[in-house]
Amino acid sequence: MIVLGIETTCDETAAAVVERFEDGSGNILSNVVLSQAREHAAFGGVVPEIAARAHVEVLDVIIANAMTQAGLRYDAIDGVAAAAGPGLIGGVIVGLTTAKAIALVQNKPLIAVNHLEAHALTARLTDQTAFPYCLFLASGGHTQIVAVRGVGDYVRLGTTQDDAIGEAFDKTAKLLGLGYPGGPQVEKEAARGNATRFTLPRPMHGRKDADFSLSGLKTALRLEAEKIAPLTDQDVADLCASFQQAVVDVVFDRLRSGLLLFRARFGTPSALVAAGGVAANHAIRKVLIRLAFEVGATLVVPPPDLCTDNGAMIAWAGCERLALGLTDSLDVAPRARWPLDEVAAAEGARRRTAAYK
Ligand code: KG4
Ligand code: ZN
Repeated sequence: MIVLGIETTCDETAAAVVERFEDGSGNILSNVVLSQAREHAAFGGVVPEIAARAHVEVLDVIIANAMTQAGLRYDAIDGVAAAAGPGLIGGVIVGLTTAKAIALVQNKPLIAVNHLEAHALTARLTDQTAFPYCLFLASGGHTQIVAVRGVGDYVRLGTTQDDAIGEAFDKTAKLLGLGYPGGPQVEKEAARGNATRFTLPRPMHGRKDADFSLSGLKTALRLEAEKIAPLTDQDVADLCASFQQAVVDVVFDRLRSGLLLFRARFGTPSALVAAGGVAANHAIRKVLIRLAFEVGATLVVPPPDLCTDNGAMIAWAGCERLALGLTDSLDVAPRARWPLDEVAAAEGARRRTAAYK
């Protein structure tokens, strides 16, 4: 089974072709990603209008490249998948409409994929991870702990009440005059800083739930920075180190709660799976290694280009859904918000639709 996948929910324009074999393993035939990071750098964050326009300008070329690199014509593919949300609605419309057009013209099934579901299922493409597993998704737009029990069977165990972890890194970088995206810059500065110089809060520490809150930490950092302004290079490094250490402590405490909740409800997870750009952070990765060891689960961290937004994860989620006969009609709507727990497999979805009628 071969599926073309399209991703346009944030600031990456991406398309990929992925094959799924009968035994459930997968193979990436092409994976083309064009990051808009440079277009947004001057603003210190993603500007929705700029993102939507940039997707329109390049998506057809990106898709053509993905098909060429896979060495395939459209008649060789079995389905067209696109991320139908959640995300910046302008971009989602561009990707989903394009997928619909290809599906219609080529007479192929359409699979409307939830972007978070695609992150959640990537570990099955890279490592053939068995259900159930615990997903820690931390990117610029999302911070979630999810029990992945099957295709279309997700239970959210924790989420952020305000900023995403990546967003907190980006805002810290912006405040300190570092570039965008901020995560890698803050990590670099932190490496030569003193993590104990500033006392920053660890929001939500010790709570039984697995939710996050980052905005208080961000404000505390700003107040510390304002107190000692103008900042020297060493001040910036120390602020970054103190901030990163606070986030590391928060992730340890919150994810540990999430894993306890997982175990109480679903037993020991087969794996702890990380996804999203934040998983690239070495200090956070150490926390993941420690926690996976503690619960006796394997740690699965897909390679960086599959951890961050890409088309292969959409194509793969499309494969997994198509293998179960889960396709969508051409009138499926793009969604800015689409919680993972609402992504049900066919039976549940049909029952819900019937109930509305
Ligand atoms: O998954 P991703 O590429 O895109 C989405 O947001 O969907 O994640 C990007 C986020 C940014 O907020 C970036 O600052 C953060 O991941 N990030 C990091 C690191 N590398 C990327 N955060 C902390 N440390 C890093 N090394
Ligand atoms: Zn993402």
